[in-house]
Amino acid sequence: MCGIVGYVGSEQSSKILYEGLRRLEYRGYDSAGVAVMNDGGLNIVRAVGNLAHLGKALETEDVSGNIGIGHTRWATHGKPSEANAHPHQDCTGNLAIVHNGIIENFAELREELSGRGHDFHSETDTEVIAHLIEEQMTNGCDSLPSAVREASKSLDGTYAIAAVCTDDPDHIVAARRDSPLVIGVGETGNFLASGIPAFLAHTREVINIENGDVVILSADSITILDENDNSITRESETVDWDVAAAEKGGYDDFMLKEIFEQPEAFRNTIRGRFKDDHVTLDELKLTDQQVADISKIYIVACGTSYHAGMVGKYAIEKWARIPVELDVASEFRYRDPVIDENTLVIAISQSGETADTLAGVVQAREQGAKVLAVVNVVGSLLTREADILILTHAGPEIGVAATKTFTCQLAAMYLVGLYLATARGTLSSGERRSIISELERMPEMIQETLEDHSMITEATEKYFELPDFLYLGRGVGFPVALESALKMKEISYIHAEGYAAGEMKHGPIALIEDGTPVITVANNSLVQDKVLSNVQESIARGASIVIVGTRGDKTTMGQADDFFPVPECDEILSPVLTTIPLQLFSYHVAKRRGCNVDQPRNLAKSVTVE
Ligand code: AGP
Repeated sequence: MCGIVGYVGSEQSSKILYEGLRRLEYRGYDSAGVAVMNDGGLNIVRAVGNLAHLGKALETEDVSGNIGIGHTRWATHGKPSEANAHPHQDCTGNLAIVHNGIIENFAELREELSGRGHDFHSETDTEVIAHLIEEQMTNGCDSLPSAVREASKSLDGTYAIAAVCTDDPDHIVAARRDSPLVIGVGETGNFLASGIPAFLAHTREVINIENGDVVILSADSITILDENDNSITRESETVDWDVAAAEKGGYDDFMLKEIFEQPEAFRNTIRGRFKDDHVTLDELKLTDQQVADISKIYIVACGTSYHAGMVGKYAIEKWARIPVELDVASEFRYRDPVIDENTLVIAISQSGETADTLAGVVQAREQGAKVLAVVNVVGSLLTREADILILTHAGPEIGVAATKTFTCQLAAMYLVGLYLATARGTLSSGERRSIISELERMPEMIQETLEDHSMITEATEKYFELPDFLYLGRGVGFPVALESALKMKEISYIHAEGYAAGEMKHGPIALIEDGTPVITVANNSLVQDKVLSNVQESIARGASIVIVGTRGDKTTMGQADDFFPVPECDEILSPVLTTIPLQLFSYHVAKRRGCNVDQPRNLAKSVTVE
């Protein structure tokens, strides 16, 4: 969580920092600030609340200068307040730092530093770093980079740090351990950020900073010192994200834009993957023997990515006949799962930064498993921890609620499932061809689903003021119910439960009373009749029924107060379609309630803490 931006070059930095923070605001938005260096002095402006408050403050302050750092915060230590907003300073006021991550030993460090006479002005863990650097600068370190290096040796936990100091007026110095930080190589200067969208308007040339690196940026040079303080060259790469993709492009919200980008995003994720009756996944460098030897797969993920994993489990077990266990990453990492060299661990993460997922992956590798990661953000931490990487090509997702990255994760899991089924000979060529042709048609079917949504806005009017929603589904409809309930609660703050439809009678049925909305995934499938029986049980108790069903299915339509149609498609692939009306439903309900759908309260896009 938290977003960091830095710029040094020939332009005014405050504008670039603010614009960069605007693009990183999804990472945290309870306060923000910048520090700009000029004429041997530091000008710091901070504000509580979302970035607009900082924008206002910057209008009235003189923050001219060509070198600066900025930060948008998601509170971990200390409430959102101006004092806790970054940048933080040392006792001299000559140094300013921004930080993303958590310093686990900050309490001890703070006590020690206080004992040595340092004054603290915030409740944050970050401030200790400023004072540690200050001590290094006064106790023998001859430069800011070496002070940052020495100070970082005292830190337990995770960090990405950027520092500026009036003693070194031409440089930004940065370091990282397990929190993301990338360099943007620009024409008018150089950039630093915790996410590429921050500088996409200026450059697409990116250098990844590795754990243990210390980076020294000037207007026209980039020096990277590795953990042994050797100056090294890291190759830059050009990302193909375009700047419009990180802007709203005429939509009211990023979330709505991202929902409507799904046909293209899905198409990009499967592009070039099919050859006749099989999938080409060159990244999956497993020999036939290694594939044959896989005895078990664990899928490890959090939140929406976990729901994508659940669909992946159904697909892999059905198509490739390999047993799959699905784990929430925060449980997986502590429950001592049975892993050996014949275990494949599939980690799914949009951001590639989720702390629990990363920890699970590291642990699984230590125990001999091969790790395949499905990730959207190029160069993110998870991409570097995995043996095999499959990128989803959803483009940048700015809205905190995952939408297009979810359907692209589904696409990636289908590719993996088909690949494994081919390698293990568990699906015939004809079966594979049929699935592939449905996948190729999927972008058009998504488009069709998106175009036909007037009934969703109408239904919104009936339901938006209700306090509780129950979501039901069976088979692959179950993860869709879970995901849709998650979407509803995270952006509208309505209590929503997702349940396996067959489990309803074991408890949740007690929640149903007159008018309780029961949202049911009941498209054509092997289990459709069973789901419809559960719908009848709900009707008998007074529920209002919303059904996502197959277009033209009159019997099902007849049982619904509101019916959201999707095109007919293969059952296992159907979550790609059935999820879409329910994304839109959550979106419209949240908007009708006046919620900020892009930045829901208490959440952040990248969850880099445990
Ligand atoms: C989804 O809408 C949520 N914001 C959240 O559950 C998210 O999916 C989860 O934090 C996992 O993130 P990741 O995919 O980046 O690992």
